[in-house]
Amino acid sequence: MSNSTIESVLQEQRVFEPSPAFSQAAQIPSMAVYQKLYDEAAADPAAFWAKLAEQELDWFEKWDTVLDWQPPFAKWFVGGKINISYNCLDRHLTTARRNKAALIWEGEPGDSRTLTYAQLHREVCQMANVLKGMGVKKGDRVGLYMPMIPEAAVAMLACARIGAAHTVVFGGFSAEALRDRLNDAEAKVVITADGGFRKDKAMGLKPAVDAALDDNAVPSVTNVLVVQRTQQEIDWTTGRDVWWHEAQPTVSADCPAEPMDSEDLLFILYTSGTTGKPKGVVHTTAGYNLYTHMTFQWTFDIKETDVYWCTADVGWITGHSYIVYGPLSNGATSLMYEGAPRPSNPGCTWDIVEKHGVNIFYTAPTAIRAFMKMGDELPKARDLSSLRLLGTVGEPINPKAWMWYREIIGGNNCPIVDTWWQTETGGFMLTPLPGATPTKPGSATKPFPGILADVVDAEGNPVGTNEGGYLVIKHPWPSMMRTVYGDDDRFRRTYWEHIPPKDGKYLYFAGDGARKDADGYFWVMGRTDDVLNVSGHRLGTMEIESALVSHPSVAEAAVVGRKDELKGEDVYAFVTLEGTYTASDELKAELKQHVVKEIGAIARPGEIQFTDALPKTRSGKIIRRFLRNLASGEEVVGDATTMEDQSVLEKLRQGN
Ligand code: WTA
Repeated sequence: MSNSTIESVLQEQRVFEPSPAFSQAAQIPSMAVYQKLYDEAAADPAAFWAKLAEQELDWFEKWDTVLDWQPPFAKWFVGGKINISYNCLDRHLTTARRNKAALIWEGEPGDSRTLTYAQLHREVCQMANVLKGMGVKKGDRVGLYMPMIPEAAVAMLACARIGAAHTVVFGGFSAEALRDRLNDAEAKVVITADGGFRKDKAMGLKPAVDAALDDNAVPSVTNVLVVQRTQQEIDWTTGRDVWWHEAQPTVSADCPAEPMDSEDLLFILYTSGTTGKPKGVVHTTAGYNLYTHMTFQWTFDIKETDVYWCTADVGWITGHSYIVYGPLSNGATSLMYEGAPRPSNPGCTWDIVEKHGVNIFYTAPTAIRAFMKMGDELPKARDLSSLRLLGTVGEPINPKAWMWYREIIGGNNCPIVDTWWQTETGGFMLTPLPGATPTKPGSATKPFPGILADVVDAEGNPVGTNEGGYLVIKHPWPSMMRTVYGDDDRFRRTYWEHIPPKDGKYLYFAGDGARKDADGYFWVMGRTDDVLNVSGHRLGTMEIESALVSHPSVAEAAVVGRKDELKGEDVYAFVTLEGTYTASDELKAELKQHVVKEIGAIARPGEIQFTDALPKTRSGKIIRRFLRNLASGEEVVGDATTMEDQSVLEKLRQGN
């Protein structure tokens, strides 16, 4: 985070109380009620979660032990039997929710669909039976590479129903990235579509699946289930590929949910870290179900009649927890949109709010800044009066964007919940509860009840008021990641030993810096590690560097984030070439395209700077701090005397 941003955050003094009308109708109506819940949970977290698990979820068998904590490995509700697909579907069918909209879907070209709980249940059972027919069994893994269509949610719930773990790979990742993830998870089946619509174009998906599986590159995959969406021409591998619309009518719509152990694998979701390949974050069944259920219910203060819209993609954790599982477990109506604001109708977001009378809208700061740039006229030309609550996630939100969101979208009448969390945490960790918490623009405010958060120094000691430090969690919570898939050691090292455990006390730290103000409000300051946040998407600098170095022309590459007004951060790459290659604009373009091929369009460098040498310490470590300064056009700060070759910086400043 740059100094100017820190200053603006430090200067931010405004406080917005929830309106009396909002509070009176809210589930958590005051800070007194929040504090009571918080204290109760802090005093005995296991008892707190057990009570909610009993009240809020349906179980096939009750657990024996609420929490088994062998740091850093936690098990929740040990001995319990449960199924999240049952909790998201079956249990609503015997209530008035049976014919309520579970999913409202808007396609980009203007088509739309509504699936009631009964209809969604039917489709999920059918897809579950198709998967069974392909030999998918409890414990197997299924890869999803999907556009934002209802079948993406259907596929997730179908896997959960039969006890197969899904691993969703964001449709913007390349064939190479998909192949790595499918191989790591040893997926048996891939569920995909011919393509999907985005920004007025039909994007292909099946071709990337074909490329990923080419030459038997993922030997575990036996079948590909293909949903027809765009009707593009696609290649077909007979015996392996199956059309969903052909298989669906051949199977029964009856498929009882498999009773799962609380700790059975629910899904793997790959995310970027500082080192090595993306890691498979493991989430299990019961704790994840409970935590996403409660955080959705209290943070969005969900009412039976609400239409709730989260603009994320199901390829990210936000889509998992807050498009699919959290909302459906609560019997809510979750709206899904296929695309993004598109050139042919940049105001389509607000058309959808108006058309469906959306009450709760949840998006990312990068989207809010893009909306701001498109101008106030677009939202002002629509009736947004149905909105009663707004949310944000993905990166620190700058107070200016927060205020615009509040005034222009919320009509000064909607609380804003700024939710801080991660793929690893499964659900919200820091967040206002909208009927209770006074909000400050740019602060994710306070921990959710049951979450013991703090800001500490490198030794794990709490830092003083308004002092920056590491944001840590001090006690396990139900939806915490259980491990890195297939790599317990990496899990321990990455998340629990960064701050050395003391006296058997482990602190969870996953990369963010923060400070706490005099009111105990948390201000997340961004990543402290080499992870970039580009438009709310997490990217490891190492991954992009490896992609660049895999091109024959590149000898060495160093990637840093450059501050970007819209995206938050942009990818900036410093590249040294192999002797026989010369720098040119064509080579720059080729290298950018190479990164797109290796990882996906989200990782495309905004800028590549060729250089003869990179600034290094005497021991050969690249001094990224200097590169970050250079990329952002700032003065290089810090001690340059440890550098091996002082002339390197000067040359870089001059652009070579
Ligand atoms: C950042 C997304 C500030 C943070 C749910 C975190 C945020 C990373 C916020 C996780 C927020 C997310 N304020 N920063 N409200 N929400 N972040 O795993 O750096 O894709 O570590 O999960 O996003 O990204 P991930």
